[in-house]
Amino acid sequence: MSEKLVSQFLASDVIVVGAPLYNFTVPTQLKAWIDRLAQPGRTFKYGEKGPVGLAGGKKVFVAITRGGVYSTTEGGQALEHQESYLKAIFGFFGVTDITFIRAEGLAMGDAVKIPAIAAARKQIDEAVQGETLAA
Ligand SMILES: Cc1cc2nc3c(=O)[nH]c(=O)nc-3n(C[C@H](O)[C@H](O)[C@H](O)COP(=O)(O)O)c2cc1C
Repeated sequence: MSEKLVSQFLASDVIVVGAPLYNFTVPTQLKAWIDRLAQPGRTFKYGEKGPVGLAGGKKVFVAITRGGVYSTTEGGQALEHQESYLKAIFGFFGVTDITFIRAEGLAMGDAVKIPAIAAARKQIDEAVQGETLAA
């Protein structure tokens, strides 16, 4: 299973990840997938100067959802280990081209949720358009 997942990851040019915030971090299932990818000699290695990512050249889109709002305050940013963790681990694998699509405040009532979803959809449209123009 580990070999199948890491091979699939390495062979992919574009990867889309769905990442809800569970207890301030990523869900167990997503962490389990990442743990299968994190293999020395496949997605990273250690050189004389420290870690080297081996899985560069990919485009990763991450759809982030959250019940509360974390992005607008320092306290919130310090508390979330979802976006910050995914940025760190994909960076560790050598992936630098990451686009985060963020919908937060989804449990805070329609007054927050509806505009948050609309903003996320707009971000998706812009990201897709950017890719089409780049192609
Ligand atoms: C087990 C569990 C833990 C959660 N923990 C958090 C959390 O720590 N912070 C937060 O803002 N939302 C939390 N949520 C809310 C989810 O992030 C939210 O439900 C998810 O982003 C998807 O939205 P949806 O329920 O509308 O599909 C949690 C949800 C579940 C099921």
